[in-house]
Amino acid sequence: MTAQRLDGKATAALIRAEIAAEVAARTEEGETKPGLAVILVGDDPASQTYVRNKRKACADVGMNSWLHHLPADITQDDLLEDIAELDSNPGVHGILVQLPLPKHIHEEAVLHAIDPLIDVDCFHPENVGRLATGHPRYYPCTPYGVIELLRRNGHDPAGKEVVIVGRSNIVGKPLAMMMAQKKTAANPTGCDATVTITHTRTQNLADVCRRADILIAAVGKPAIITPDMVRPGAVVVDVGTNVVDGKLIGDVDPRVAEVAGALSPVPGGVGPMTITMLLLNTLRAAQQLDV
Ligand code: GUN
Repeated sequence: MTAQRLDGKATAALIRAEIAAEVAARTEEGETKPGLAVILVGDDPASQTYVRNKRKACADVGMNSWLHHLPADITQDDLLEDIAELDSNPGVHGILVQLPLPKHIHEEAVLHAIDPLIDVDCFHPENVGRLATGHPRYYPCTPYGVIELLRRNGHDPAGKEVVIVGRSNIVGKPLAMMMAQKKTAANPTGCDATVTITHTRTQNLADVCRRADILIAAVGKPAIITPDMVRPGAVVVDVGTNVVDGKLIGDVDPRVAEVAGALSPVPGGVGPMTITMLLLNTLRAAQQLDV
């Protein structure tokens, strides 16, 4: 079997066209352009690439973006001051602090300092709490991107066995919540799936993975998901972004394409979807702030 390619680039392009149309309609009515402020601390090359891609995506759909590129040795107080200044700028509808931060900065303190109304990453505890209770203000971008990639390519997770490998705050944990939640008017992204999360203490990982109708790899280890861990015909989503010898490699061994029914590539799978959902959150933030 050769797996269906879950083309994130093509799916993202469709959603970005929808966003661009909404942005254009909004500006034609005389409303402000949605605007995203990105804070990058230090010179990590991967983070610089991610931030560049996010800003280009903003420009492509007609949104404003600003980059605050701050030195790696900035103090936490100065960073918090920068966030407060952006928070008070009415043209800024979304703030994103690119992670990871340098070791001397307390990540939690920084994420808590962002106004939850413009926390388009959905990392603030108020927004995580709202998400957990089924009353989301925003959906976190990577899990949201995974779900849209599945749904828009004919793989609705409702009633399916979903196995998520990895329990990070950015992907595994929020994705598990969203997958397990009931779809309601207040929570339209709820998936009604049956969900298992695996982690470093999971026993018989391959057996658990083989239970999956939909297997999601979000570990951060190159090619850790091998063909023997995939039930023939299963849908596999690769969230991994590992740089090996300067090349971007997913968490899924490419030979899985011979077993799976569908597989998202790296690059060109979840990556473009994540950025697209960030654009959507920024548009929704602008719409909510204007009410
Ligand atoms: N670093 C890796 N993924 C993300 C993300 O989704 N948001 C932010 N702010 N930083 C990240």
